[in-house]
Amino acid sequence: MSNVNLSDRIPNNVDLANDRTLQRALEHWQPHFLSWWDEMGPHDFAERDVYLRTAVGVDAQGWASYGYVRMPEYRWGIFLADQVPDRRIGFGDMLGQPVWQQVPGEFRTQFRRLIVTQGDTEPASVEQQHLLGHTCPSLYDLRNLFQVNVEEGRHLWAMVYLLHAYFGRDGREEAEELLARHSGDIDKPRILGTFNEPISDWLSFFCFTYFTDRDGKYQLKSLAESSFDPLARTCRFMLTEEAHHMFVGETGISRVIRRTLEVMKELGTDDPVAIRRAGAIDLPLLQRYLNFWFSSSLDLFGSEISSNAATSFANGIKGRPDEAHYTDHIAIDQGFELEVPDGDVGIRVEQVPMRNAMNEVARLAYAKDCEMGLKRWNMMIGRAGHDFVLTLPAVRFRRAIGSWADVPTAPDGRRIGATDYAQGIGGWLPSTADRAHVQSLMQRVIEPGKMAGWVAPPDRGINNMSVAYEYVRL
Ligand SMILES: [Fe+2]
Ligand SMILES: [Fe+2]
Repeated sequence: MSNVNLSDRIPNNVDLANDRTLQRALEHWQPHFLSWWDEMGPHDFAERDVYLRTAVGVDAQGWASYGYVRMPEYRWGIFLADQVPDRRIGFGDMLGQPVWQQVPGEFRTQFRRLIVTQGDTEPASVEQQHLLGHTCPSLYDLRNLFQVNVEEGRHLWAMVYLLHAYFGRDGREEAEELLARHSGDIDKPRILGTFNEPISDWLSFFCFTYFTDRDGKYQLKSLAESSFDPLARTCRFMLTEEAHHMFVGETGISRVIRRTLEVMKELGTDDPVAIRRAGAIDLPLLQRYLNFWFSSSLDLFGSEISSNAATSFANGIKGRPDEAHYTDHIAIDQGFELEVPDGDVGIRVEQVPMRNAMNEVARLAYAKDCEMGLKRWNMMIGRAGHDFVLTLPAVRFRRAIGSWADVPTAPDGRRIGATDYAQGIGGWLPSTADRAHVQSLMQRVIEPGKMAGWVAPPDRGINNMSVAYEYVRL
């Protein structure tokens, strides 16, 4: 197992102490990161003790420690999952050859772009959530927000380490740029669209952690297959932390639904107006939030047909999520049946070489994973005696990238005319009134164990602590 050094200025298991140049370069970047955190990270909570999990190693049993930390003093470290002895390339044209410990010169640009794009999303989400702490529904939730934030900060460190260690001067410049772009900035926005959407309420935060962090999971799964071993190991460890982010999303939405069902029972009605008057979130409103965040997150996978994806797969740069689940890892003779728009209202099936459809393969695996939560939520709704069913919109609904970009489509996937779309879209996405209602519920609750009226308490606390534990000392 790799040696963990926790006493260094930058905790790590990559033997930083024995690479003075790299260590100095990262120690030079560290204050830039901290001033970015200070300015763009959680607003106004720098002095507070937060009960946080900190990664301290990569051992499956005890990889994290829990305790009160002030966020600026969080120990952001660099951790790679243990090396797999004699690991071999798992897919593409070089299947079976030994993996790479350095970036091959011919793939340098592609790897750099991939790492920069992944790295850009990490601080972006922290920026998007900059002000959320002020309207927390409970101390438990406030702590979870900060946990997600510090871990996205650590994920930035993970990508910056790769840039510094393997990409020389360009890498160092890219690392600086990762702190210079900002979510929603007109001149220097974050690279990907979804990461420029503001997250100004907690329902959006729960949807973001459910849908967009899950996109992160699938990107990391693809990169964890990479033939560039340090990247694969980095991403494998990031997935360990990422699981909690999706837990926050899934349980967050579950708790919203549970509270809504309670209110519906108390009032004896499913009338949205009555539910809103009682300070809860009606299910049709939730459905519109799901429509918004799911469709927005789908674009992150890129175009359905992509020569870039094909090259990436062929060269062993980026695999399919869970590559081991497939039997053919070369995928050269296979085809993929893709539905594409045909004429004004039609749909036809196009045969695409499998390698060119890798983005779509990943997107569909992601969509299937998203379905799991909906099944659970619908079960809760059904058990409470209601026939309302939450659904995911079709993967071609409201797309801005790929074959379905700007093709008017109903949430059920039917192609419709531009006029019908223009009339329908207002009812499919959160309206101004929906957002105003959600915003009106965003009153901060900070008494330990108390919850805002729009969300039920969680089943249990963090790390065996009670729900009423003082997760943030204000
Ligand atoms: Fe992340
Ligand atoms: Fe995340």
